Amino acid sequence: MMRHLPKLALAAAVGLTLAGCGGGDTATEADPESATGQVGIFTWWADGSEKAGLDALVEVFNQQHENLEFENLAVAGGAGSQAKSVLAANLQSGNPPDSFQAHAGAELQDYIDADQIEDLSSFYEEQALADVFPSSLMENLTVDGQIYSVPSNVHRSNVVWSSVEVLEDAGIDPSTAPADLDAWIADMEKVKAAGKTPLALAGSWTQVHLFENILLSSLGPEAYSGLWNGGTDWNSAEVTAAIEDYDKVLGFTNSDRDSLSDWAPATQLVEDGAAAYNVMGDWAQAKFEQDGKVAGEDYVYWPVPGTDGVFNYLADSFTLPKGAPNPGGTLAWLQTISSPEGQTAFNKAKGSIPARTDADPADFSEYQQSAMEDFKSDTIAPSLAHGAAVPIAWLNELSTAVNQFSTSGDVAALQSAAAASAEKFAQ
Ligand code: GAL
Repeated sequence: MMRHLPKLALAAAVGLTLAGCGGGDTATEADPESATGQVGIFTWWADGSEKAGLDALVEVFNQQHENLEFENLAVAGGAGSQAKSVLAANLQSGNPPDSFQAHAGAELQDYIDADQIEDLSSFYEEQALADVFPSSLMENLTVDGQIYSVPSNVHRSNVVWSSVEVLEDAGIDPSTAPADLDAWIADMEKVKAAGKTPLALAGSWTQVHLFENILLSSLGPEAYSGLWNGGTDWNSAEVTAAIEDYDKVLGFTNSDRDSLSDWAPATQLVEDGAAAYNVMGDWAQAKFEQDGKVAGEDYVYWPVPGTDGVFNYLADSFTLPKGAPNPGGTLAWLQTISSPEGQTAFNKAKGSIPARTDADPADFSEYQQSAMEDFKSDTIAPSLAHGAAVPIAWLNELSTAVNQFSTSGDVAALQSAAAASAEKFAQ
């Protein structure tokens, strides 16, 4: 569970940092108003509804900063599956973009430890951003009193998207979520008996995405978070039971899962009425909308059974890399991202909720309005697959083990590989 840092404590921490640094950092002092030329922005929002989100943000950027030209450096592949290694190589070889997408939390820590991104505390101060972002998010972005990136949005990982038609055909009431994992599995049996795929799944990171949500459901938020902060023993019987639950659920997925390349083809199976359910982050909401599907009629959504009252969280944020070619342009980009107009335009198209707390819910879909409410009141858990819970090296090891499990089904092997990674990386 993320701790909530009181706003005052945070403001004091930022203030101390500013007092101590005394200026002189040329990149963060660049002038966004007089900047010209191209601003190269690195993301993995390269196609479909994800690109539509980026396009909406770029439109606001173009309006707000007429002297600058957005350069799209996106590398395709959901969850940064290809982008993160390309980025690492570019940073390593001294070829940073003007800004890159990084998840709030442990993933950001990697770039901080490698001294690859600038402290943006002075930008936060100038734009008074501590007043508009939730304190839990600020804490997730702050390291040793310094804050290194600007959040564009908050996504929820633990959502099931379901086909109304497939559920009704299987005799399941689409308006009511199963009470827990067992009840959900019982419904999956009914879908299977009706001749449809119960749960749509793809390969690579999407399996990690499902894995984290079954762990969360099976263990509960506290023990789940303990997997990442050392509080839960990966070798314990409760973790064995959670991995067995994952194994059970995997048994209801499409047999060609490993050959589906990314999340969108799996979500598409639900849209097409070929599968009943897909566990996916709420970027799926943007895809349903883009494809003209109507919530409540074509599809329904609820938290993964057993995770009601928990918001499995991740946030995209943007950085000022050390050695960025156009730092004034970067700061202009960060201004757009943090502005009310930028946050509203982007999140409307992306399915996520604004990081800013002063956005007007009426501007957003019914799903997003419910997510805004839940983010305020739910227990927050950090996403594994999307950088909130663990650093990239740990995630990569776990991803390999989870993907191997897709063919081996060997619970003991997955558990001991995950325990070994925790032993190596947990601090
Ligand atoms: C996440 C990212 C989301 C969305 C998703 C699928 O890691 O935070 O914004 O892009 O991957 O690609």
